[in-house]
Amino acid sequence: MGLVSRRALIAGGLSVAALGAVGYGMWPRMDGYREEVERQRRLLAANPDLQELVRMATLAANGHNTQPWKFRLLDGQVSILPDLTRRTEVVDPDDHHLYVSLGCAAENLVIAAAATGRAAEVAIKAGDEPRIDIALTRSTAAPAPLYEAIPVRQSTRSLYDGQQISAADMALLEAAAQEEGVSVLFFTDAADRDTVADFVIAGNSAQMDDPAFVQELLDWLRFTPDRAVDMGDGLFSACSGNPVVPDWIGSRMFKTFFTKDAENQKYADHIRSSAGVAVFVGDRDDPEHWIKVGRSFERFALQATALGIRNAHINQPIEDLTIRPEFAVWIGMPNARPDLVIRFGRAPLLPMSLRRPVSEVLV
Ligand SMILES: Cc1cc2nc3c(=O)[nH]c(=O)nc-3n(C[C@H](O)[C@H](O)[C@H](O)COP(=O)(O)O)c2cc1C
Repeated sequence: MGLVSRRALIAGGLSVAALGAVGYGMWPRMDGYREEVERQRRLLAANPDLQELVRMATLAANGHNTQPWKFRLLDGQVSILPDLTRRTEVVDPDDHHLYVSLGCAAENLVIAAAATGRAAEVAIKAGDEPRIDIALTRSTAAPAPLYEAIPVRQSTRSLYDGQQISAADMALLEAAAQEEGVSVLFFTDAADRDTVADFVIAGNSAQMDDPAFVQELLDWLRFTPDRAVDMGDGLFSACSGNPVVPDWIGSRMFKTFFTKDAENQKYADHIRSSAGVAVFVGDRDDPEHWIKVGRSFERFALQATALGIRNAHINQPIEDLTIRPEFAVWIGMPNARPDLVIRFGRAPLLPMSLRRPVSEVLV
């Protein structure tokens, strides 16, 4: 427990007496967590096996860090399948985020394969249970900045520095996100960012008023490093810039401080501190295009990371079914389903999130 976190806690209003009741020995330590992060996030050795490529795939962005994927390894092929036991049915009733997450994992795998000597051909299989087949053939290893960004990419849910991104870097972000069947719209004007903040606040207010949404989120929160390491999934407080505290304090703090007003203010501040907002829109509203959106977004996020630019999801305007059509009109695509809303800008890294072991995601 660092001094900063304890100060934040006191500033947050928790009584000093309550703090005194917690012995130092009971205060969660981050050492084991950090070791686990380093172990999971090392770059690949030469000639990695397919399981190692899967490890890189699992470092991808994914909704609520549920890691809703399974991997089937064949000779020269990796298939990525949905793990429907890890659905988040309240925030993602049609499994949109789930398939976007599979697309993110596919992109990491393709990039890691190219860097270490395998060319990849991706086929998205539609049907009752859509999946992604990735055929791998030997090629020359070509390490690239996007590959090196895989272990460092994160969702950075903090205040950014309020500075613009240069035109040259914006062009690289735009190029990285290019994907057939996906459009990406960038909003960098202050007035546009304010409007996005209004949409996010409207969506967030609706979600905070929904006890099922709050309960589903709570189910995926991990307050202590030990619990985060044990589970290997979910949203660990420190990864969202929140203090690390014992479990009993964490759940009490959540109930006290996770209020509609506080969250809305936080989102408004976060969006105003960002350099811009990117909105990803698939040509069609089906799993094939959700997967393509995931690939496009993951490349965007890796390119951003390679440039020292952070990003975070602010998807409330596309998660709320009444707000989504209004948002589609505002971005100028009234007949489309906007898929992802992402803010970006510069900020220090927060602690990295954890993943489950590869052995748990193989079928
Ligand atoms: C489809 C999708 C939807 C997401 N939605 C949100 C969101 O609404 N709010 C948020 O803070 N993070 C969101 N995330 C980010 C995930 O929570 C994050 O990727 C996951 O916790 C793993 O952490 P990492 O990105 O730092 O590796 C989303 C990610 C994906 C792929």
